Amino acid sequence: MKKKNIVLIGFMGTGKTYIGKHISKKLNMEFYDTDSIIERDCECRISYIFEKYGESYFRKIESKVISKISKKENIVISTGGGIVLNKSNIEILKEKGIIFLLDGNFNTIINNLYGNIEKRPLLKGTDWEKKAVELFLRRKELYYNSADYIINIDNKNRDVIAEEIINIYNLQK
Ligand code: S3P
Repeated sequence: MKKKNIVLIGFMGTGKTYIGKHISKKLNMEFYDTDSIIERDCECRISYIFEKYGESYFRKIESKVISKISKKENIVISTGGGIVLNKSNIEILKEKGIIFLLDGNFNTIINNLYGNIEKRPLLKGTDWEKKAVELFLRRKELYYNSADYIINIDNKNRDVIAEEIINIYNLQK
C-alpha cells in the first residue's frame, strides 16, 4: 500500500531537519531536506544565494525543489521555514503528504537558534532576536493554516516529538 509522505514545517530553529532525519531512520523512509537539496544543487550556502541573488530568487528555487520531491511517495520531507510563504508549495506538498507543524513558544525557538544565526540570512546582523520575533509573529497564522497536525515541541526531546508524529502517521490509512 502506498503511504503518504511526512512533511515537517515550522519556524527556523524548531528542529525540522533533526526530527525529520530521526523519523526517517525509525520508519525506514527516505529523507529529503529542501535546504540541503538547494545547497547541493547550487554547490553553495543558502546565505550566499540570499546575498548574491536575493530572497525572491531563493523562493523560486525552493518551489522548484518542492515540486520535484513532492512527486515521490513514502518519504520524509523537512522544509525551510519560509515554505509557507508560497501557498502553492503547501498545496503541492498536501497532494501526497501529511503536514506536521513543529510549534514552540518563542523561548524554545530562541534557545535553539543561539549559535546558529550565521546559517540564517534573514536573521543576520545585530538584533536578530527582534527580527526573529517579528518574522515569527508575521508568519504564525500561515503555519497554523498550512498544518494538518500541530506538534508542540516545548520541553520535549527528539524522541518524544518523533514518537508523536509517528503515532499520528501510523493511524492514517
Ligand atoms: C528560512 C529558513 C531557513 C532557510 C532560509 C529561509 C525562512 O531554513 O530556508 O534561510 O524563511 O524561514 P530553516 O527553517 O531550516 O532554518
